[in-house]
Amino acid sequence: MKVNDQDISQGANQYAPMTGVAPLREAIADKTAQLYGWRPDADAEVTVTAGATEALFAAISALVRPGDEVVCFDPSYDSYGPAVELAGGVTRRLALQPPAFRVDWTQFGEVLSERTRLVILNTPHNPSASVWQAEDFQQLWQAIAEREIYVLSDEVYEHIGFADGGHQSE
Ligand SMILES: Cc1ncc(COP(=O)(O)O)c(C=O)c1O
Repeated sequence: MKVNDQDISQGANQYAPMTGVAPLREAIADKTAQLYGWRPDADAEVTVTAGATEALFAAISALVRPGDEVVCFDPSYDSYGPAVELAGGVTRRLALQPPAFRVDWTQFGEVLSERTRLVILNTPHNPSASVWQAEDFQQLWQAIAEREIYVLSDEVYEHIGFADGGHQSE
């Protein structure tokens, strides 16, 4: 094993913090500020994970309680459903309609219930490449206003987008 004594003298000689090293969390907060116009608190609001699947699992496990309902839009990334099930939740699936693969907001309103806890969205969407528009977010906020429903927004492909309006995050 090769040991770089400079790393040791600079303090890189212990387990990394569970939430990720501070300079990386600061860089993520800066990037968020540049792209989205708000800066999360790097200590309290940024957690680094080993890929998106871990982040999704952690978020779903933290939020979903037994009996809670979780809305997701199909086709969807395979890990959402099993993570919801492991947390004791029930997945309520809404089909995105081809060819545009947009959300039918009337159907969305009908699937919400007293037990809805979480909505999982994905934009740009795998596998259809459809993207959420500002009006989709407006419809979402309107539909869940005044209710304690969380939104988990999977934007792993935020930088792989070809839509005219670019990537919308809210
Ligand atoms: C929509 C979506 N979210 C999350 C992931 C998982 O990302 P990661 O490989 O970083 O766990 C994928 C991978 O295919 C994906 O398509």
